[in-house]
Amino acid sequence: MEDKYNKETVTRSLRQIACAAALASVTLIAGAHGDVTPQAVDVSTLKPLGKDWLVSNPYRKDKEAIRIGDSAYNQNCARCHGLGAVSGGIAPDLRYLPEGDEGDEIFMQRIRDGASRGGRVYMPPFEGILPQEAMWSIRAWLETVREE
Ligand code: HEC
Repeated sequence: MEDKYNKETVTRSLRQIACAAALASVTLIAGAHGDVTPQAVDVSTLKPLGKDWLVSNPYRKDKEAIRIGDSAYNQNCARCHGLGAVSGGIAPDLRYLPEGDEGDEIFMQRIRDGASRGGRVYMPPFEGILPQEAMWSIRAWLETVREE
């Protein structure tokens, strides 16, 4: 009898662990709305851009920036904007941003300021979190997956 009891206890705690794990993954998904730690981006292999904010992408078509931007996007943006920039519907599909300077302006304003309305954060601001170099790298990569 004692054996059976122990077995049940084990089964029960296993079930609790499974439950906790399921809850934890729900929390991670819920974290898609703002409170997931941003991931640092290594930009040491890129030409430094200085302190002033540029208005047009200095890394457009730069291979190394595109490589860095691809991974920086996946770590910081994909959870809302979708893998490969193909939106699952939570956030706008960034493949359709206008090309060139026009898209650069929309992109930079949004990535720096994020988006909040009525006290709700729809997108966290990345200014002070990602350096300008990382932002422009993401933009350089986005232009490689652009759609009309
Ligand atoms: C927590 C979810 C979330 C994360 C993370 C996130 N975004 Fe957003 N983003 C949104 C939402 C939601 C909007 C739409 C905002 C609105 O409705 O005003 C948006 C809007 C944008 C826009 C404007 C799109 C347009 O068509 O006007 C750009 C550009 C953008 N995000 C870039 C990024 C980049 C780059 C990253 C990563 C560094 C990122 N976002 C991370 C949720 C997110």
